[in-house]
Amino acid sequence: MPGTCVIGLQWGDEAKGKLVDLMTAEHEIVVRYLGGANAGHTVVTGGAKFKLHHIPSGILNPNVDNVIGPGVVVNPAVILGEIDGLQERGISVSRLKISDRVHLVFPWHIAEDKVTNERLVGGENIGTTLRGIGPCYRDKVGRTTAIRLGDLYREDFPERVERIVAIKQRQLGALDAEAAATLDAGAIVEEYLGHAKRLEPYVCDTTPWLLEAVESGRSILFEGAQGSLLDIDHGTFPFVTSTNSSGVGVAAGAGVPWKAIDRMIGVAKAYTTRVGGGPFPTELTDAMGDRIRELGNEYGTTTGRPRRCGWFDAVAVRYAARLSGVDELALMMLDVVSLLPEVRVCTAYRLDGQTTTDFPSHADDLRRVEPVWEVLSGWKTDITGVRSWEDLPEPARDYVVRIAGWVGRPITRVSVGPDRSQTIDVPLEEVAPAASPSR
Ligand code: IMP
Repeated sequence: MPGTCVIGLQWGDEAKGKLVDLMTAEHEIVVRYLGGANAGHTVVTGGAKFKLHHIPSGILNPNVDNVIGPGVVVNPAVILGEIDGLQERGISVSRLKISDRVHLVFPWHIAEDKVTNERLVGGENIGTTLRGIGPCYRDKVGRTTAIRLGDLYREDFPERVERIVAIKQRQLGALDAEAAATLDAGAIVEEYLGHAKRLEPYVCDTTPWLLEAVESGRSILFEGAQGSLLDIDHGTFPFVTSTNSSGVGVAAGAGVPWKAIDRMIGVAKAYTTRVGGGPFPTELTDAMGDRIRELGNEYGTTTGRPRRCGWFDAVAVRYAARLSGVDELALMMLDVVSLLPEVRVCTAYRLDGQTTTDFPSHADDLRRVEPVWEVLSGWKTDITGVRSWEDLPEPARDYVVRIAGWVGRPITRVSVGPDRSQTIDVPLEEVAPAASPSR
């Protein structure tokens, strides 16, 4: 049962889309299983750049089936925009299947996200993507005011919307009367029925379809979104997204038994970024942070927000790799730190006079940790044209090998630029860490 998962090990934006795109050639099916329009996957192929939010990156490969599993929340207007954008550029979407179990994002979710995100959590706001993701998942868990994709095709859909709009107007009206007044049940029904018609060819119950695929041994690639440190249970709560975005959430979101996943590839950037609020021990708030942002073009795919930048945090990535059951790592965007005079890695935290390699469970403790740094010399060489491990400058190879050691997982691929071709396979004997670092 060959099931591979590509999972982000930081706070999202680890360039997972590129890896998924590379790996689709080895798989028959690509599955998105969580998140929604908060995700922004950029895939560059043949010089063309594709920005996807809901649709699996496998869509660019005509031989692959693409599945949006039940754990995803879908904004119909946004996904239709993605479909149109792909078709305009000659990409077929006929092999797309969307689970009729996905929950739908409605205008009230976006209005609620805006209103609640403005409320501070311990003096800082979460800084959500304002795509209505949290409120949609909140309704899913609450059940009584939730609408799934399959509901669009039921006779009582208009009635449901009217009932929910009446509730939402009262709830939202208590916080933002203006936003509540814009909710018009009739207009929403009309708009969503229009979307339903256009989406119909892609909608099905993907669960039995995927179970059949698993049982017949088809090879499946599970495409993670967000990152492990944004996991609702295991991340930097409350500065997280609303799903189990680490490896523990794959089977639930896709609708497959956990045994269907036998290879976990963790993706991390050669440095760290974060968008939105929350603790970030290795953050650089100085000119070096600005330099990395410019070199890496670190602006959000979905919101355009400048990303916070910092050095590689081996404590955080090691935690995420262990939690997600990662077998091997891909280290992305090594080219971005290539021109710097030195590079730093945080290998442990100092907290309350103790040194630890454990990742704190409380955001306030993570905010208080002091990184223990390992400073390495830079290689000050443009490596975007390098295609083999041997041709990388020695300090760059040393950086990769040592990160593998600190994280406790082999690094099997290094990326030196956005294009598919800018990927270096690392000989396993070079990067297999002897043993997990001592705790
Ligand atoms: P939400 O998922 O829109 O509710 O946002 C919650 C937090 O997760 C915010 O800090 C967002 O910036 C972050 N987030 C959500 N999706 C992504 C992503 O795809 N990449 C990076 N950060 C994300």
